[in-house]
Parts: sequence; structure tokens; C-alpha cells
Amino acid sequence: MSRLASIYICQSCGAQTRQFFGRCSNCGDWNSIVEQAVSSVNSKSNQRKPHSFKDPRPQLSEPIGALKEKALDRLTSGYGEFDRVLGGGLVPGSLVLVGGDPGIGKSTLLLQSATTMALQQSVLYVSAEESAQQVRLRWKRLQGPESNLQLLAETSLELVLQELEALQPAVAIIDSIQALHDEHLSGAPGSVGQVRECSSALQRLAKQQNTSLLLVGHVTKEGMLAGPKVLEHLVDVVLTFEGDRYASHRLLRAVKNRYGATHELGIFEMQGNGLIEVTNPSEIFLNRKSAAGVATIVACEGNRSLAVDLQALISATTYASPRRTATGVETNRLHQILAVLEKHMGLALSRHDCYLAVAGGLEVEEPAADLGIATAVISSYRDLILPEGTVLIGELGLGGQLRPVGQIQQRLQEAERLGFQRAVFPKGSGLEQMQTEVKLQCFEASNISEALVMALGVDLENDQN
Ligand code: TYD
Ligand code: MG
Repeated sequence: MSRLASIYICQSCGAQTRQFFGRCSNCGDWNSIVEQAVSSVNSKSNQRKPHSFKDPRPQLSEPIGALKEKALDRLTSGYGEFDRVLGGGLVPGSLVLVGGDPGIGKSTLLLQSATTMALQQSVLYVSAEESAQQVRLRWKRLQGPESNLQLLAETSLELVLQELEALQPAVAIIDSIQALHDEHLSGAPGSVGQVRECSSALQRLAKQQNTSLLLVGHVTKEGMLAGPKVLEHLVDVVLTFEGDRYASHRLLRAVKNRYGATHELGIFEMQGNGLIEVTNPSEIFLNRKSAAGVATIVACEGNRSLAVDLQALISATTYASPRRTATGVETNRLHQILAVLEKHMGLALSRHDCYLAVAGGLEVEEPAADLGIATAVISSYRDLILPEGTVLIGELGLGGQLRPVGQIQQRLQEAERLGFQRAVFPKGSGLEQMQTEVKLQCFEASNISEALVMALGVDLENDQN
């Protein structure tokens, strides 16, 4: 009797064994060995058939006009914010992986989106984590429109593939890829081998029948997408759904996108009856009340600018080495800014603890936030309140000089739209070349001390108390 066996392949060096090891005996890497069904590797029935592609010969790329028309074929996900992150909608036949912490709202987002999409095309929602009854309960709570959404509560890969082939839906949602399992593999659902096999089988079918697949993926404790890295290489788009579980808004980001720009940001708010999109996000991240230690920056996420409040708290330390905690900003960046302020502004920050937070749980990675961070720190250190309606934009160099940042016009326009009156930004940002007139009061500074004089009205370099 022939028995389906598994082999174990090291993801780092490709070595094959018959047995599972925690460490590859060939290259010495830990946790790199993955189970794979022999049938999927070399059985005849699964070998790639040359005629599976209609025309395998190389073809001339299409004229630009035809390509533009094709772009219109994208399916709308039902949410403008979701479409923006996807690069203008869902591309037919594409594979999208949506990752996120448990309870963040992945199932809610996809069920709502599926319900809206099902008004126009056939959509299959495979719930591998919840029973059909549970999904129906959620659906009732969401009060979505009546649509022909097909619901399948199943965990077996084979049955899901069968259903996909039978229904040939335009869009299929798998919630989640970690809960599916292939009976030919001995690994538990969610194990690296299972995730890899299930996703590649789904991908093959989806590309063949031009079904767009949305896969929900779990995130590990370290915040990485659970499963093999190949999963991220395999799919066309990787999105992460994040946000503070205790705050109501959620951010959808593109980490990888073969059909659009990455670093696009979609913003949603979780309410009692589901997720709604936030079209004017700056309002969430702004407090509008001036206080010591608060500064407003305008950050750019993809094509979108957001005005965001930063808060700093500086207090004398009781520890041998001062504490530095940053939420939403890289701690190393904060260290660097504190060092620049200490050296060039003569502040005794090494004897103070420093806590920094970005309002609303947003992560700000770009250096354009430097000037805002520095001003928030000084505002808290000296107990000075920034005049209302001021935004700060600029990168801080190690010598205390300010460097211009990109998309300045877009940032100033956003600040103006939100009713800010003053902006402090680096000299040489190209104010003269801007196409539209800026009504904000603009202050161009060449270094940090000039910027602080403009923003706070204090001359720290000549005032050492
Ligand atoms: P869920 O979509 O199940 O998260 P995930 O699939 O990412 O694990 O979201 C669950 C959370 O969302 C849960 O804590 C309750 C909350 N929620 C609402 O606040 N409003 C709603 O309408 C729904 C459906 C869920
Ligand atoms: Mg879920």
C-alpha cells in the first residue's frame, strides 16, 4: 500500500530530511525546517501541466491605452479607504493577505467588505474560525445590506478548493489561512508547512480561475505575520490592520503591493455596529488644546498628510540612568534628538526622564517629525506652551541644523485646511516654487535654536536658566 509521506525541507539551505529537527543539520539554522507533502513535491498528478497556461509564448506588452482601460477593471472593496490601500481597488485574480493582532477587527472588515462586494459580484466567504451561526450573528450586528454573500464554514483545504471550483466566485475570502488544513500533511493547522501548502494551493486555483483571494493572517507575538516568509512572497499584496485595541480607530497599511504604492494608509473607526471609514483623520489625532509638552506635526503617509499631536513629558530622574520611553516613534530617534538638544542647546536632559507619545496610537517613522519632537521636549522641559495653531515640520541634523523634508506643500495645505495659522519649517524647503499660495504664516529656520525662537518665543542659546 502506498502511503503519503512528508519530507522536511530547510527553508534556509534547502536540505531535505525524513524527520523533523529543530535545527538544520546542514546549515545549523534553528526553526527553519518545514514539513512538505511528498505528493505536492513530486507526484505525477500534481506536476505542472504545460497546457495550464493558454498561451505560454512571450507576448508584446500591451499598448498603454489598453492597460489604462484594464485598470478600470479593478473591483471596489466597498470602502474607499480599503481601495486606497489596495492601490485603487481589488485586482481580479490577485492574492491579498490581511494580517493583524487578534481582535483588531480583521473579520469585521472583511465581512463588511464582502457583504458590499456581494451586491455586484459573486463572493464566497470561507469562515474557518467561526461557525456559520457565529458569522451570521456578526453579520446581523453589522446591519449590512441584503446581498448574495455565499458563506462556507469549513477548515478542510480540499473542500474549500472544491467549493471555489464549483462556484467560481469573483472574490473569495479565507478567514483565516492559519485555520485551514490540508489532510495530506501531519502538521497541525497553523503550522508553517500547513500554511505554506494551503496558501500555494489556493493561489494556484485563484490565478487559474481569476478569483481575487483575500486571506486573513495571524500575527505572532513579535508582530510578524505568522507562517513562513514564503507566504508574504507568494501573495501580491500584504496589508496590516493595526491600532490600539483599546482605542476605536484602526489603521490599514500596505506593506507590499504589486499593484499600487506601499505606505498608503486607510483609517477606520470601530463602532458598535462595525467599522466605518474615517475620511477626515486629522481630527482624531489632534487635541486642539494647547498644553506644555504638546506639539503638532504634519506627517505624510503615502499620499496623505495627517496633522498629529505629539506629547512629551520631561521630569527629573530618580534612576541612575534616565528612562526614555517612546510610543509611536522609534526610541533611537528620540535618543538622538535628546542628544542634539543636550549638546547644542545646553539642556541637562541626561538628568531627566523623557516620555514621548504620538496621539491616537499612530506610528510616525519619518524624520519630518524631528522638529516637532524637539519642540515638545523643550516645551515640557521649560513648561512653555506653544502658541495655538502652530505646526512644526522638519528633520533635525546631528549638528542642530534643520533639513528640508519632502511634500512640504502638501503638508502646509493640510495644516491650512485644518485651520492652523503658523508653520515653522526648514529654510530651503522651496516655499517660492510652490504652485499654490500659502495663507499660513510661514517661518523658515535654518537650525533648531532659530526654530525654537520662532515657535516658542524663547532664545535658549542665550538664556541658560
Ligand atoms: P474581529 O473582527 O473578530 O477581530 P479579528 O478577526 O481581527 O480577530 O473583531 C472583534 C472585535 O471588534 C471585538 O473585540 C469586538 C469588536 N467589534 C465592535 O466593536 N463592533 C462590531 O460591530 C463588531 C462586529 C466587533
Ligand atoms: Mg477573526
